[in-house]
Amino acid sequence: MNMKGKKIVLGITGSIAAYKAAILIRGLIKKGAEVQVVITPSGKEFITPITLSTLTSKPVISEFFSQRDGTWHSHVDLGLWADAMVIAPATASTIGKMAHGIADNMLITTYLSMKAPVFVAPAMDLDMFAHPSTQKNLEILRSYGNHIIEPASGELASHLVGKGRMEEPEKIVEVLENFFAQQQDLQGKKVVITAGPTYEKIDPVRFIGNYSSGKMGFALAEECASRGAEVVLVSGPVTLQVHHPNIKRVDVESAQQMYEAAKEAFEDAHAGILCAAVADFTPDIVADHKIKREKDDLVIRLKPTQDIAASLGASKKDGQILVGFALETNDEEANAKGKLERKNFDFIVLNSLNDKGAGFRVDTNKITIIDKVSETPYPLKGKAEVAKDIINRLAESFKK
Ligand code: C5P
Repeated sequence: MNMKGKKIVLGITGSIAAYKAAILIRGLIKKGAEVQVVITPSGKEFITPITLSTLTSKPVISEFFSQRDGTWHSHVDLGLWADAMVIAPATASTIGKMAHGIADNMLITTYLSMKAPVFVAPAMDLDMFAHPSTQKNLEILRSYGNHIIEPASGELASHLVGKGRMEEPEKIVEVLENFFAQQQDLQGKKVVITAGPTYEKIDPVRFIGNYSSGKMGFALAEECASRGAEVVLVSGPVTLQVHHPNIKRVDVESAQQMYEAAKEAFEDAHAGILCAAVADFTPDIVADHKIKREKDDLVIRLKPTQDIAASLGASKKDGQILVGFALETNDEEANAKGKLERKNFDFIVLNSLNDKGAGFRVDTNKITIIDKVSETPYPLKGKAEVAKDIINRLAESFKK
């Protein structure tokens, strides 16, 4: 695998780990990438521009203007030029400025103008890294869609031992390589994803709902979008946020609304992933006033909702791929296989409530992917990792 022709802006800040930037540049260039260094004033205290410009065969950018000839360094041009920006090492100060848009040096203005994906490799002392301020700022960067390359644990420059060491240059190169390799495999594909629960109204203040958090569906949407797909995410009521600009979010509440939105979006889509926990029944009559407490039992008559999956499965055109989910408590495999058949899915993702760490309201999942001819079990993983496994499988289906 290589990074031939990839243009990378490497941001270097004032941390002792800046000496590793030289090794990082070598690694990137060996893989065929072009590297432009942008360094902060304090970064230059730790590594000399001569070392960096020799390795990259390009002048290092640090100031808004070149001291010598007054040439203007355009951060906007850099933002358009790059295929990726990597900030390694990233100090707590730079991370804070990035999070809050404090554009007082060339590196931050470049970051704010960056059109390409941004990777951040923090490097600092363990207490600085653990401080709520740093953690909050990293969370903000994640919410901007930036990729955080977590620091490793080990001996630090202070001789203390803990988490804060910048990830090794070889690993950073690997992260970028994997990113570029995966980046494009869903380019040109439109994927519709349903996520979260539905709320079925009983009266103006009450509803029938379920425990679905939407985390799995949102992770799938981010994964598809980061691999180049155009995503329509039809979401029931959840507290999650979408990060990637290629995700169009459609918020719905009831099963009927979800059905209408999903059906419309699926018309010209290449794939549908039905991850939502849709109510199977909805109150026959919605009271137009708040139902009052009575001594007698209250009976709410329910009628079946539309099965979104079955309806999309029935109308599926040649080449369209439909993926379903099955959350089971018993007879897992048999039930999942029944749904695969009945709803005309290309494959179904089974998670059992009997598996610890799988299912609703947790950050992990343990799945088995089942199609007409095979069953593939996966170990317990974080939902972002599980999303990767599922989307790898979807990408394979497109190739067939
Ligand atoms: O039959 P069951 O609800 O267990 O099937 C689960 C699969 O069907 C999931 O993919 C779920 O999103 C989908 N489904 C749906 N519309 C419904 C009920 C389930 O799309 N009304």
